[in-house]
Amino acid sequence: MISDIIGKNQFYFSSIYSTNNWLLDMLKTDELPNGLIVSAGFQESGRGMVNTVWESERNQNVLLSLLLKNLPIDVSDQFVLNKAVAIGVLNYLKSVGIAAEIKWPNDIVVNHNKIAGTLIQNTLIGKRIKNTVVGIGLNVNQTFFSDFKRKATSIGLEKENTSNLQLTINNMLPFIAYQFDHLRVGRKNLDKNYLDNLYLSNLKRPYLFNGEKIEAVIKGVTPEGKLKLLSNSNRLILADLKAVEFL
Ligand code: BTN
Repeated sequence: MISDIIGKNQFYFSSIYSTNNWLLDMLKTDELPNGLIVSAGFQESGRGMVNTVWESERNQNVLLSLLLKNLPIDVSDQFVLNKAVAIGVLNYLKSVGIAAEIKWPNDIVVNHNKIAGTLIQNTLIGKRIKNTVVGIGLNVNQTFFSDFKRKATSIGLEKENTSNLQLTINNMLPFIAYQFDHLRVGRKNLDKNYLDNLYLSNLKRPYLFNGEKIEAVIKGVTPEGKLKLLSNSNRLILADLKAVEFL
C-alpha cells in the first residue's frame, strides 16, 4: 500500500532551488526510495505550472515534493494523478475546517483565493510512467504573493500550530496517501469527488478562450484533463491550460 511508504523517508532542506527539480535531477543518476518526501523552508526558484515561478516567503508555507515510482497508470490517463492529489489536499483542508474547492486543473481555492498549487511531473519509459514527482505548495502563513493574478489566502492556523510546518505536512500526507491507495478501485468516486468540488462548475461565467471572450458553463473535464465548457451558443469547447483563462 502506498500509505505504508509515503513519508517513511524524508529530506528537509532549509533552502533549495526547487524540491521538484531536485528530485527530478537526482533521479537521473540515483536510486531514490519510493514514497520519499522532500520538503524545504525556502525555494530559490520554485516552479509553478506552465513555466511560472512559485514564490513563497522563507519558513512560512509548506513546500514539498513526493516521489512515487511505477504507478499503475497509463500515460493517457495521467490526469487521474492530478485529481488524486487535489482531492487529497482538499480533504485535508476540510478536516481542519477549511471549505476549499478545486480550480481546474489542480489549484485549491478558498473564497475565490488560491491557497495551494500542485505541480505533477512524470518521467516516462515509452508509454509507461516511471517516476511521478508530486509538488505541493500550501500557504500556511503567507497571504501576499506578487506573482498571483488573484489574491491568495492561507490556512492561517493558530500561531503555535503554524510554527510547525512539519506537523502540517504529517497531517496532510495521509489524505493524499489514501487517494493513491484507492486509485484503482475508487476511480468512480474520485471522478465524482473532483467534479463535485470543481470551482465555478455549472455556472455561466466569462472566460477567455484562445483570446476570444466567451460566456460558458464548466461541464467537466476530459480523461486527458481538458476543461469541458459549454458556450452560450451551445458549442462544446475542450480547452487545455494555455487556451483558457478564467475572467
Ligand atoms: C502552481 O500552482 O503553479 C503549482 C505550484 C507548485 C509549487 C510546489 S512548491 C513545492 C514544489 N517544488 C516546486 O518547485 N514546485 C512545487
